[in-house]
Amino acid sequence: MAGTANRGVAWVTGAGTGIGRGIARRLAEDGWSVAVSARTARDLDSLAAEVPGRITAFQLDVTDPKAADDTGRRIEADLGPVDLAVLNAGSYFPTNARSFSVDNFRKTVDLNLMGTVNCMGPIVPSMVGRRSGHIAIMGSQSAFSGLPTAASYGATKAALNSMAEAFKPDFDRYGVAITIINPGFVKTPLTAKNRFPMPFLMELDDAVEIILRGLEQRRFAINFPWQMTLSTKLLAALPGWAKFAITRKMLPKE
Ligand SMILES: NC(=O)c1ccc[n+]([C@@H]2O[C@H](COP(=O)([O-])OP(=O)(O)OC[C@H]3O[C@@H](n4cnc5c(N)ncnc54)[C@H](OP(=O)(O)O)[C@@H]3O)[C@@H](O)[C@H]2O)c1
Repeated sequence: MAGTANRGVAWVTGAGTGIGRGIARRLAEDGWSVAVSARTARDLDSLAAEVPGRITAFQLDVTDPKAADDTGRRIEADLGPVDLAVLNAGSYFPTNARSFSVDNFRKTVDLNLMGTVNCMGPIVPSMVGRRSGHIAIMGSQSAFSGLPTAASYGATKAALNSMAEAFKPDFDRYGVAITIINPGFVKTPLTAKNRFPMPFLMELDDAVEIILRGLEQRRFAINFPWQMTLSTKLLAALPGWAKFAITRKMLPKE
């Protein structure tokens, strides 16, 4: 059931499936007016039908900077100033040494890093000008330590963590909140493709609940589940010989 309260305008990218869809639906149910973006229009339309009157679809490929800028401006013109942006669109393209691919890195950087930055383009000046707003960026626990097959993915997620940390004190001066969300493994269409063990794999609804609670509290970092955070942060703190003894075991079979 859609709530009656009007909590403000939220924009969720990558909202067609998985974590973004779950966040968008919950925000709409909680009384937000939600703009949702992805490339696949039918996913957005079916989501909009789940919470009638609360969700508006804006089809967008976030790797196109002009389209991202136009979409951000259109959302603000149609729905009002964006109070909360959840910049979630992203994907994982596995890497390995034998089939090293420059294209893999370009694709991953264009989507995960530049896709996020492209969507910040129209909303950061608007939020800074209004001295209010909240930007939440989708990172990953792979940001904390270099993991096999995630050379490009982890690099972009580490970059997003660094970017959020760098902006935090600057945004604070203008009353704009920034959050970095670093999930472990969550059951979504993305992870359904993985053929390796996924420790502490979480249900989507549980992940969405944790993210929504963290956003409500305007936390800077939402790292979960705690068992995965502990593991990845411990791994990062180990000396090289111990770290690589562990990550060597994570290599897929040749
Ligand atoms: N699932 C996990 O375990 C996990 C863990 C850590 C972090 N994350 C992060 O969480 C985010 C969502 O992942 P997910 O697991 O929910 O994946 P997902 O189910 O594959 O959802 C990804 C969403 O992003 C959209 N998208 C992909 N490329 C896009 C593009 N060029 N422009 C606009 N939208 C695009 C997809 O829709 P279209 O294809 O229709 O565009 C889809 O709506 C990603 O940033 C991912 O790195 C996931």
